[in-house]
Amino acid sequence: MRVSYKNRKVLITGGLGFIGSSLAIHLVREGARVVIVDNSVLGCGANLFNIAPVATDVELIHASIADTSALAEPLRGCEVIFNLAGEISHIHSMAMPERDLEINTLAQIHFLTAVTRSIPGVRVVYAGTRQVYGAPDYLPVDEKHPINPVDFNGVHKYAATMYHLMLSNMGQLDAVVLRMTNVYGPRIALDVPCQGFLGTFIRKVATGQSLEIFGDGRQLRDPVYVDDIVEASLAAGAAGQVRNRSYNAGGPEPLSMADIAAIACNSAGVPEPTFREFPEDRKMIDIGSYYTDSTLIRGDLGWSATVRFQEGFRRTLDYYREHLPHYLDPSNPSPSCKLDLRPTVPTVKKATIVPA
Ligand SMILES: NC(=O)c1ccc[n+]([C@@H]2O[C@H](COP(=O)([O-])OP(=O)(O)OC[C@H]3O[C@@H](n4cnc5c(N)ncnc54)[C@H](O)[C@@H]3O)[C@@H](O)[C@H]2O)c1
Repeated sequence: MRVSYKNRKVLITGGLGFIGSSLAIHLVREGARVVIVDNSVLGCGANLFNIAPVATDVELIHASIADTSALAEPLRGCEVIFNLAGEISHIHSMAMPERDLEINTLAQIHFLTAVTRSIPGVRVVYAGTRQVYGAPDYLPVDEKHPINPVDFNGVHKYAATMYHLMLSNMGQLDAVVLRMTNVYGPRIALDVPCQGFLGTFIRKVATGQSLEIFGDGRQLRDPVYVDDIVEASLAAGAAGQVRNRSYNAGGPEPLSMADIAAIACNSAGVPEPTFREFPEDRKMIDIGSYYTDSTLIRGDLGWSATVRFQEGFRRTLDYYREHLPHYLDPSNPSPSCKLDLRPTVPTVKKATIVPA
């Protein structure tokens, strides 16, 4: 049984996004005092509707984590930080490396400087990524696997990981990094292009369309349901002294892309998926098969993923059946992965927040 968050002040950066909002809802229900810092970056998954169930229970600071003057009050008395602010798109990172650098590294330097000054030694759970490993040399991938990212996003996320670890080694922070595999579930952005295949799969089948798979569909992935990642984050935030600082957090089972697509299509009752050639821009940064060895986190933090893909996908579809309009932009019914971040790409929906 892990330590409770009841009455504890926690800060969630990126808390309007997919994973951060799921974490916020859980923490509010557990009785924590939740502060969110998010500036709704264009091209990321921020959506005010994500926090609708707890809208009146969280304090929302609409600012960048790089804006240190806006952070003084949110950081005061904060006991745990869940640092999820970031850009996840590999494709965007290749097209706009400076943008990715700014979001995933520079902003983190400003943020961590403010944190170490205000609340030195605080526990920070950083949302790292399996992308830092690049194309696996072996499977399943454990924490000893060489770091060899294949895109700017992986390089920048690794730099930010190292900022956390370096400051922890210096005694200025107490960071735990979770290297997460592909996360899916309610609140994942559906109409933000280039955020990964799972959001696209969900949007397509939830709107009655079938799926296209790039390549032969035999590549493996281990998608992890968002509630499992919330549990991993809570465990990492509440653990006493940790034996290791970086943990892989993967899904409960490796599945081929063909299986993932077939489960998605069957769950939604749409025709079977079809196959097509890999587009060049994807092929360049493709990592082949990947799945996670989560032995270390299971041993140290007692966490392992519990929700199998079929069940997690069913729950996800149930959520979007009820709330789909809040996640689709009517002016852009089939967002393509074009490298265009002009304001045609919505970030914060104009939803009115009604406490659920
Ligand atoms: N979704 C996944 O499969 C996955 C896998 C591995 C790692 N991660 C990491 O988890 C984190 C959250 O991912 P997500 O899927 O919820 O993404 P998301 O795009 O839904 O949410 C990210 C949020 O961060 C906010 N943000 C970005 N820069 C900011 C800044 N400077 N200041 C304040 N807020 C800022 C965005 O506005 C957005 O709301 C990211 O750091 C990502 O790299 C995600």
